[in-house]
Order: sequence, then structure tokens, then C-alpha cells
Amino acid sequence: MKAHLLIVDDEANTLASLSRAFRLAGHEARVCDNAAKALELAKAQNFDLILSDVVMPGKDGLALLEELKQQGVSTPVVMMSGQAHIEMAVRATRLGALDFLEKPISTDKLLLTVDNALKLQRLERENRQLRQRLGKHEIVWKGETMRRLVAQLERVAASESRVCILGETGTGKELVARTIHDRSPRSSGPFVTLNCAAVPAELIESELFGHEKGSFTGASGRHIGKFEQADQGTIFLDEIGDMPLQMQAKLLRVLEEGEIERIGGDKPIAVNVRVLVATHRDLEARVREEKFRQDLFHRIYVYPLVLPPLRERGEDIPALVKHFAEQVCSQNGWKPVPFSSESMQALQSYSWPGNVRELRNIVERIMLLATDGRVDADTIEMALPHSPAGASGGKTDSSGTLAERVQSFEREVILAEVKRSQNNITLAAKTLGLERSHLYKKAEQLGIDLRALRREQGGTE
Ligand SMILES: Nc1ncnc2c1ncn2[C@@H]1O[C@H](COP(=O)(O)OP(=O)(O)OP(=O)(O)O)[C@@H](O)[C@H]1O
Ligand SMILES: [Mg+2]
Repeated sequence: MKAHLLIVDDEANTLASLSRAFRLAGHEARVCDNAAKALELAKAQNFDLILSDVVMPGKDGLALLEELKQQGVSTPVVMMSGQAHIEMAVRATRLGALDFLEKPISTDKLLLTVDNALKLQRLERENRQLRQRLGKHEIVWKGETMRRLVAQLERVAASESRVCILGETGTGKELVARTIHDRSPRSSGPFVTLNCAAVPAELIESELFGHEKGSFTGASGRHIGKFEQADQGTIFLDEIGDMPLQMQAKLLRVLEEGEIERIGGDKPIAVNVRVLVATHRDLEARVREEKFRQDLFHRIYVYPLVLPPLRERGEDIPALVKHFAEQVCSQNGWKPVPFSSESMQALQSYSWPGNVRELRNIVERIMLLATDGRVDADTIEMALPHSPAGASGGKTDSSGTLAERVQSFEREVILAEVKRSQNNITLAAKTLGLERSHLYKKAEQLGIDLRALRREQGGTE
């Protein structure tokens, strides 16, 4: 495994011999003769490992170790010293050094130590990624709206009820369906998805119920449908609002009888499947327009779970941003990047037509743009789309209910006033004709974190 190393030692001879040994072993080594310079290099570049002497003029190796830690540089460090004593080694280990080598250092021992350090680092990274992957079904939330929804979800998950998940695109309907399955008594059974809008009408029946060999032109073998695949588990019928009417009649029969029939089959097959459905459409309107069967509607609309659009739950945005930022950084092995509170507010005042999915994509873009180690309002400006569909550009939203538009306008007015008062909340409240406590309450409802803004004014954050 080829590695990029940084060697810090005040002795030119040591630097020369160590870097030669590393180069011969196929590694790339950068040398540096003092701790201050080493700190700069370690912050600017991604080394796989730092090897540092302890006793050096100026800042010593232990101080370097401490500062690296303080400044969030997570590169592993191996210490070495010619005047090693046990207390020094203990201190170095306490400060997070991976190993402690006594000079003179044998090349074999050195290379072995480096190999071990690199292996450990790789394992840690894989472990983090695995944990992230396992936790990918986690619903992230902060505010009251989602707290209530998650509580409802827990309750309904434990039951056998059919659940109809409603919400705009990207609000997390599929995530909610998976979570219901994962928390249900059927969690050890299969979770099978069919997107009714993505399958051509003439293939839906075979997809759902399967077919026997030769049952229609092109049916070259037997096919087991999604309902049978989901036996003892859950089937998730996504975009049910787009299911063709003729298929709706067949689905209704299955829901009533608990049996399916493969196309070309000669007997019904009993299936034990829990049905979850989702749609971004207004199902009741579809029923009125006679595009959706009323009897099927009543069968599936047992327990509606409505996912609000992201613009109505700005209070969830910081937690979601953190979640996605950590995900992106860990997947790419990047250092986490802090968000200024202004940047977070800019994200909270955007209208998110693509909801959480859009937020996830934008956070990824932000992480790519944040090359100078922080995210500020300019980074957000660059990352957000500049079409009038998303940014409100100083005007209120031209979509949504009256209540939503009023909320969005209130959020903008408060943010503008707080900015104008240079984060002086008392002054902003006065200008707006509100009690200070009322302004805090109002801001909280609108998902604005005034405390973070005020702290920033005090310069402590
Ligand atoms: N509350 C949340 N916490 C964490 N991740 C979320 C949350 N809501 C949505 N996501 C993520 O956002 C993305 C979009 O969610 P999902 O696919 O569930 O949305 P959807 O409502 O099914 O969208 P569509 O209608 O377009 O199919 C997914 O990657 C999902 O994991
Ligand atoms: Mg979906």
C-alpha cells in the first residue's frame, strides 16, 4: 500500500535516511525540520501518516501532537525519540499518538509500524462507511411536525394496518415506507418495491402477480411476481396514484381475498403481505376525476401519513445538512467542514422544490465547493440554483397555501431585520414591534436559530 508521509525532525541526517527508507519501500515522503511548518503542511495536505521527533528546538513533537488534535487534523501520528523515557511515551499516547519508537530506529520496525498504522486507518474508514450504510434508513428530524410524524410511524409500524404515504417528490416517502417495514414484526421478512409509474401499463400485472411460461408472447419462463416475493413481508406500491384503472381492479381483488393468480396460472396462491402505498398525487382528487377507483381508495387509505414539504419544516434543515455533510465527507474520506450560521440561514430561506432529495444533492455540491475549509453565505450562493423557481429573491413564494406564503414572508422579514441590526436581537425585536421573547418564539416556529446568530455577534462562535 503506497502512502503519503510527513516526517518531522530537526536533524537533517535523520530526515535523509528515513525518507530514503520510505522511498525505497515505495512510499512518498515529505520532510520538514520544525513543528510549526509541519502543522501548516498537515493542515493543507492530506497525509496518511505523520512521523515526528519529540525533542526539537522551538515547538516540540508533543506540542505538535496537541495542536494537530486541537485543530481537527485526524492524521495518525507516530512519535520517535532518542531520549525516550516512559513518561514521555505515556504522554504521547495520551495525546493520541499511535505508536512511540525509540531511536535509533530499525528500518524494518519503522516500515512495519507504518504498515500497521495505514491498515488501522483503512479499517477505521471502512468501519465508518459501513456504519453509515447500515444507518442509511435513519429518518433525521428536529422539529415538532416530524416528531409527531415519527411517533405516528412507530405506532402504525407495530400494527398490520395499510399505510398510505403522501407527500411531494423527495419528501422521504420511500424512506418512511422502509422504516415502517424495519420497525414492524415483519422486519425479518422481505421488503419489495414496485414503482407503478415506472412500469409500462401492460407489464404491471406480470410484475405484481407473475406469469407462467408461455402465458403470453415473450413469456419464455415462469416469473414470480412482487406479491409472491413479498410473502411474509411488506410490499411497497410507490406512485399508486398512477396505476392504470384496469390494474386497480385486479389489485382490489387481491387486497380483498389475500390471494393472487399468476398470468396463465390455473390456481390462486395465498400470500401474506402487508401493503404500503405512496403517491405524490392528490388521491381524493384522482377519485373525483374518476382516475382512481373509490373502492380501492377506501381499501388503501386506512392510515394516511402526510409528509410535509421541506419548506414547511425549516427547523429540520440544520440536522439534515449535518447528516448529509457527514455522509458525503465520510464516503470520500474528507474532513468535516463547519457551516457558518449565515450559510445555514440561507439554506433555511430557500424554498426546496425538490425537498430533502434536493437538499442532499445541494449539500454534496457545497462540500465540493468548500475548498477553503468553511461554508459561508457565498458558498451557498454558488451552490443554490439561480432560477426564480427556488430562490425567493426578496419576494414571497409564489406557490403554496396562504399560510405557507405568509410563513415564508415572515421568515424573510425576520432574517432581514436581524441582519440589518447586525444580529442584535433586542434591536431587531424593537424595530419589528415585538417583545424579545416573542421574537425568539416566532423565529423558532419558523426554523430560524436566533441564539446561534446572537452567539456569532458575540464572537464566541
Ligand atoms: N428525514 C430524512 N432524513 C434523512 N434522509 C432523508 C429524509 N427524508 C428524505 N431523505 C433522503 O432523501 C432522499 C429522497 O427520499 P425518498 O426517496 O424517500 O423520497 P420520495 O418522497 O420517495 O421521493 P419521490 O416522490 O421523488 O419518489 C433519499 O435519499 C432519502 O434517504
Ligand atoms: Mg419515492
